[in-house]
Amino acid sequence: MAKIITVMNFKGGVGKTTISMNLGYALKENKRILLIDLDPQFNLSQYLLGYKAYHSLLARDAPTIYELLEEGNPGFPIKDTNEYIVCVNGDDRMHLICSKLELFRTMQTATNACTILKNKIDPIVDNYDVIILDCPPTMSIISEAAFFISDYVLIPIMPEYLCTIGLPLLYQSINMFNQKYYNNQVQILGAVINGEDGYIPEGYDAIADIVKWCNTNQIPLFNSRILYSRSYPKGSRMAMPITETPYARWYTISNFKNFVLEFKGKAGIK
Ligand SMILES: Nc1ncnc2c1ncn2[C@@H]1O[C@H](COP(=O)(O)OP(=O)(O)OP(=O)(O)O)[C@@H](O)[C@H]1O
Ligand SMILES: [Mg+2]
Repeated sequence: MAKIITVMNFKGGVGKTTISMNLGYALKENKRILLIDLDPQFNLSQYLLGYKAYHSLLARDAPTIYELLEEGNPGFPIKDTNEYIVCVNGDDRMHLICSKLELFRTMQTATNACTILKNKIDPIVDNYDVIILDCPPTMSIISEAAFFISDYVLIPIMPEYLCTIGLPLLYQSINMFNQKYYNNQVQILGAVINGEDGYIPEGYDAIADIVKWCNTNQIPLFNSRILYSRSYPKGSRMAMPITETPYARWYTISNFKNFVLEFKGKAGIK
């Protein structure tokens, strides 16, 4: 049965998609991975498939998470979950459910998203070892549905002041979710500092704030911090993880691998 992990922060641009994508690639070496793009910005879909393949998928009306969450409404026939799943670059160890822009409508209307997502994912949960859900930077019925089916939430944070002040809000929302859905509790796997660049004093001040806040609220903070590297945006342009770009330095790759090791340990992934 797959471990299901939601990658979430209300703050935008903290690396949710970048981490989901690179984590998926790192884990697929010996695990079966499903990534689900829950963001109407569809960054993860385009990042994994590349611009051309993603847009040709839309052109042939391939069903996405939007159609999945709208199932049962007029014009949205019931489908087998496998019909929503695509292989990433022909690799059968890494699958994806894409997103598309129209998902923003579902975010405002789909009051039953929790049940639909659960009913669609339950039948395929044994086909995977890890399922990663990349969320948009807002709390909505979509993030609630992600929490509803997840074992854990992974919280990327950039070492910047505005990221630190968003943490209590997310923490509060997770607590509210757990009070509302006491049979579907989600656990915080941890917060991971992403984009550490040694910038003095702001970077260090922000890290000190994050450490203090995590200690006070008993939020596990990853020991590994993901370093700032231009290889991440370059990788996104090439639809490649940093391990496969010709740019990434060995220490950037080994830094990310350390994070993956800690992630596996915390999530109980062998
Ligand atoms: N460790 C890093 N070093 C350098 N750049 C990074 C790093 N992590 C992410 N980035 C870059 O920061 C930008 C934002 O990353 P990303 O899109 O993954 O964030 P996000 O949290 O998913 O954003 P959104 O909230 O809009 O979904 C991207 O350009 C990405 O390439
Ligand atoms: Mg994103």
